[in-house]
Amino acid sequence: MIQVAPSILAAHFLQLQKDVDIVNEHADIFHLDIMDGTFVPNISFGFPVVEAIAGQAQKPLDVHLMIVHPEKYVERFAKAGAQMISFHYEAAKEGSAALLKTIQGLGVKAGIVINPDCPVQAIFPLLPMVDYVLIMSVFAGFGGQKFIPESLERIHAVRTELDRLGRPEVPIEVDGGIGPANAREIVRAGAGILVAGSSVFKAQDPAAAILAMQQADKMAE
Ligand code: DX5
Ligand code: ZN
Repeated sequence: MIQVAPSILAAHFLQLQKDVDIVNEHADIFHLDIMDGTFVPNISFGFPVVEAIAGQAQKPLDVHLMIVHPEKYVERFAKAGAQMISFHYEAAKEGSAALLKTIQGLGVKAGIVINPDCPVQAIFPLLPMVDYVLIMSVFAGFGGQKFIPESLERIHAVRTELDRLGRPEVPIEVDGGIGPANAREIVRAGAGILVAGSSVFKAQDPAAAILAMQQADKMAE
């Protein structure tokens, strides 16, 4: 089954309860984008928002850290209620393996993220230990960007390597510019979790958009 993780970055912050209810009722995972204005040129939200959502969430919280020094903050995000935490390979570099272990030691699933300009081979040494991989299909930092088509080959390459390692159960999450119109090709390339911000919260019918993506693997040719 394809899981859909709506990105709260695109939610309506003055009616957050309503958008949280949409995720609880129709989607699979809450995707929470944490930006620090340094690793990426944008600032999003922090602990108070994550804690408030955790208090209402009936689905797992997936925290995507777009920050420098992610190792300083993973424990606090785990305490705030995250069940999944990912950080950028570009931010942790040679500290990535140790940080994945730290996150797992907190009882949280650990994911590694790469931007579109990071060669996929850079994270191959980490694939035996990750709980999931997050492949950015736009450059991290802003919602509402266009899906980069070359991402499909990158997803396929990581999927192939995970399968070669005997880890078919490890999902690939893909983030950026995803909606019902391109979900199928992304799933065919090997994605198991689709992050979607604008295409869910700016849709006339968010539930229908989520359902279409959840069924992306069942769409006819
Ligand atoms: C971008 C974020 C994404 C973003 C996706 O840096 O990581 O999660 O919110 O938004 P859409 O689906 O609008 O591209
Ligand atoms: Zn994200």
